Amino acid sequence: MSEAKFPTVAVLGAGTMGAGIAQVCAQAGSSVVLQDVTDEFVQRGLARIRDFLQKGVDKGKTTVEQRDAVLSRITTTTDRAGAARGAQLVIEAVPEQLALKNGIFRELAAVVAPDCVLASNTSSLSLAKVFAGVAGPARCIGMHFFNPVPLMALLELVRTDATSAPVIDAVTAYGRQLGKEPILVKDSPGFASSRLGVCLGLEAIRMLESGVASAEDIDKAMVLGYGHPMGPLKLTDLVGLDVRLAIADYLAQELDHPGFRAPELMRRMVAEGKLGKKSGQGFYRW
Ligand code: CAA
Repeated sequence: MSEAKFPTVAVLGAGTMGAGIAQVCAQAGSSVVLQDVTDEFVQRGLARIRDFLQKGVDKGKTTVEQRDAVLSRITTTTDRAGAARGAQLVIEAVPEQLALKNGIFRELAAVVAPDCVLASNTSSLSLAKVFAGVAGPARCIGMHFFNPVPLMALLELVRTDATSAPVIDAVTAYGRQLGKEPILVKDSPGFASSRLGVCLGLEAIRMLESGVASAEDIDKAMVLGYGHPMGPLKLTDLVGLDVRLAIADYLAQELDHPGFRAPELMRRMVAEGKLGKKSGQGFYRW
């Protein structure tokens, strides 16, 4: 294995995305510090990584040695500043709240080395706002991963007006070491992936709401008719209805386009705790 472009990486947030990101960074040879606010969250993230690697062993895709080597490169903590201090790259994957993300980067900019790259996994928020007031805006970039992170080939890199070319080059090279194909997108609402993907998902929910077809048949239309690996309703279940609702509300506000208005059915399901796969019930029972 060639040396990882970023030998030490801090991943902030040990949820679905953070755990997946920590895993692929460790697979690429980086030492990874996975941080979350409680030990319970961190342990849950680590268990997710362990499960994925074990399934890989069971499928014959991963050797026991590879599993153990990846796990040995991941340490965990609840100390955010401590996690970031020795890293050359910090990847933030905390909930999609602008003030939370911005506060974290402002705090960490003072703690990390001046050339430490600061990256956010936000799936739609303005990177200019996420990094507003952060010292060293040239080192700030969006690194948008896709769920399930270890299996999805895309890495969407989002540059602000301030992101430097060397930072884009370094993160692009690292993305390839992670086994991803990077694309480069300008900081704009929903970037390339969420703007298209969320629009399709919301329209599918509107169609279900107005009785056009069943969830299964709407999904089949896209899977069998358009070659999508998964239909838009099942995918919304996988991502989480709450996550997609937050993105939809944000995009409806930023882009003057009725396609981003969240359907009532979606709001009702989120209010009832039907969040998709993670809650056991969404458009499907999991
Ligand atoms: N370890 C190693 N390999 C594994 C593995 C594991 N634990 N689990 C699965 N794999 C491998 C399989 O062996 C298989 O490999 P081959 O292709 O070589 O046979 C491959 O990964 C696919 O796995 P499966 O056959 O089990 O599953 P699948 O074919 O049904 O694919 C999927 C699963 C990749 C999730 C596919 O359904 C898919 O691409 N779905 C769409 C997902 C998507 O769109 N995600 C984006 C969501 S949006 C987002 O994330 C952005 C956001 O901001 C919220």
